[in-house]
This record gives sequence, C-alpha cells and structure tokens, in this order.
Amino acid sequence: MEVKTEPFYGTPETHLYLGDCLDVMPSFADNFADMIFADPPYMLSNDGITCQAGKMVKVNKGKWDKSSGFEKDAAFHEQWISECRRILKPSGTIWISGTNHNIFQCGYLLQKLGFHILNDITWYKPNAAPNLACKTFAHSHETLIWAVKDKKAKYIFNYKI
Ligand SMILES: C[S@@+](CC[C@H](N)C(=O)[O-])C[C@H]1O[C@@H](n2cnc3c(N)ncnc32)[C@H](O)[C@@H]1O
Repeated sequence: MEVKTEPFYGTPETHLYLGDCLDVMPSFADNFADMIFADPPYMLSNDGITCQAGKMVKVNKGKWDKSSGFEKDAAFHEQWISECRRILKPSGTIWISGTNHNIFQCGYLLQKLGFHILNDITWYKPNAAPNLACKTFAHSHETLIWAVKDKKAKYIFNYKI
C-alpha cells in the first residue's frame, strides 16, 4: 500500500489519512491526540460460516481480516497500540472496539503498555447474524474498552449531560 503521510482530506478540525496505520501513525507528533477511537481488524475471516441475506456463506471480510496466527496478530496490535500511546495526550482517552477474536489481546496489550482500563462497555447488536451452527451463543455484541494512559490521568468525562 502507498504510504500517505499527508491527509487526503482535511479541515482545521479534522484530518483524514488513508493508508496502513503502521506506515501513517509514525508521522504523527507525540502527545497530540485528545481521544483515539480504534476499530481494529477482528482477524476472524478464516473460513468460518455466517449468515448473509438469509444464506449461509463463508466469513470473508477481506485479506485485512485474516489471522496471521496468535503471535503475529498480537505483534500487530502491540505495534499500533504503542503508537497510540505515543500520540495520545496524557489527559487523553482511547476507545477500542472488538469481538472475542481480538478484544482480549487488545485489552492485555493495553495493560502491558501501561494503560489503565476505565470501563469495558457492551455494545449490544439487536441485528446480529443469526446463530446457524448453534454450537455457541449468538455473537450479538461488541466490547468497547475505554482506557487512559495512566491511572492518575486527569481525563474528561462528561457524566452529567
Ligand atoms: C473492524 S473493521 C472497522 C470498520 C470501520 N469501523 C467502518 O465502519 O468502516 C477494521 C478496519 O480496519 C482496516 N484495517 C485493517 N488493517 C489495517 C491497517 N494495517 N491499517 C489501517 N487500517 C487497517 C480495514 O480495512 C477495516 O476497514
């Protein structure tokens, strides 16, 4: 993939970059982000089955979603979460959403890298794919992890809105 270190779209408030995060993120300054929301690849497109438009189909979201094995997947997550730690302000927070395929690795790595987890939040999906095999419960939620760089960090939380 071509490396883009200039935003392909930008306003004074918002810059959008297109590229592999491992190529793009190193060009960002230290401690500049107020908040990071990441929805990383699940690594679940490994010939399992799902239901699409009422039909049983193989799970194939794309090459980006194929697992390279436990260790390599973890190494990828560790790389981008480390970059997030570098670019996040001390008062900033990070949100990571995922499923059982990736969220536990991300949670472990957040803690390994020194983050303090504030909450894990259940994002319920009322329109989840039907449970075809009935060998497990339906996968009807994502988990969001909300974390700060340090337990003593003074982060913003508008509890009363
Ligand atoms: C779980 S999906 C998130 C989709 C997103 N929330 C949306 O609504 O479009 C993961 C996304 O990460 C992207 N992705 C995978 N590997 C990446 C990488 N190394 N750098 C940047 N994006 C990547 C995929 O293209 C995919 O769009």
